[in-house]
Amino acid sequence: MALSGLFLVFFLAQHFVINITSVIAPDTFNEWSHFMGYNGLVQFILQPVLIAGVIVHFAMGIALELKNNKARAIKYKQYNGNANSSWMSRNMIITGLVVLAFLGLHMYDFWVHEMAYKYIEVNPESPTRYYEETVLKFEPFWRTIIYVISFVLLSLHLWHGFASSFQTVGVNNKYSAGIQTFTKIYSIAIPLGFIFIALYHHFNPITH
Ligand code: HEM
Repeated sequence: MALSGLFLVFFLAQHFVINITSVIAPDTFNEWSHFMGYNGLVQFILQPVLIAGVIVHFAMGIALELKNNKARAIKYKQYNGNANSSWMSRNMIITGLVVLAFLGLHMYDFWVHEMAYKYIEVNPESPTRYYEETVLKFEPFWRTIIYVISFVLLSLHLWHGFASSFQTVGVNNKYSAGIQTFTKIYSIAIPLGFIFIALYHHFNPITH
């Protein structure tokens, strides 16, 4: 669970770096997106590994939740979870399922379209189309707001998950306090950055 989560955290950081260029340097965004979309290593090795990582993380999360529930089949009569755990840590399955639902929409929005464009319709390469396609997606208010809400839930998921993954893999040394601080900053900064990208494109549509 922890290792697949750390892998996804790493993916998210690189995804953010590429996406933020859609705000600050659209030509770079086109260039990098085209590279990611047509590079053999990215398409046929890294992409399947990423999909496997998402599936492993999701399947283990469900399994862990079921195991936890089974471990205490008869519920406590009184339970004050707040006393020694955070809301985030107790609701990882809820925030995780919201992120998964978001991924369903997100894959439909971008990835399915991309696969169809390249491998089904077999269109010619068009290295400058990505920026416009991405900005267009954020035109409808409903999609922008679903994305923003999902990123808030993603932040809550990361807030507990990223920090606790180091505990799970047994990192406990003089760097632990610094690592914890880093994970908390990441959990807020990256989703906030994604929110900024979505809102920026919504409020700065392409006008021809
Ligand atoms: C404003 C925010 C975001 C934008 C504009 C965005 C945009 C994109 C684009 C353009 C693609 C490329 C599809 C392709 O060419 O194959 C993509 C793929 C993807 N995105 Fe996002 N994304 C955002 C946020 C996120 C977040 C928060 C996550 C994870 C929680 C995420 C997960 C993924 C995944 C798993 C893929 C598939 C990668 C692949 O295998 O091609 N994205 N996204």
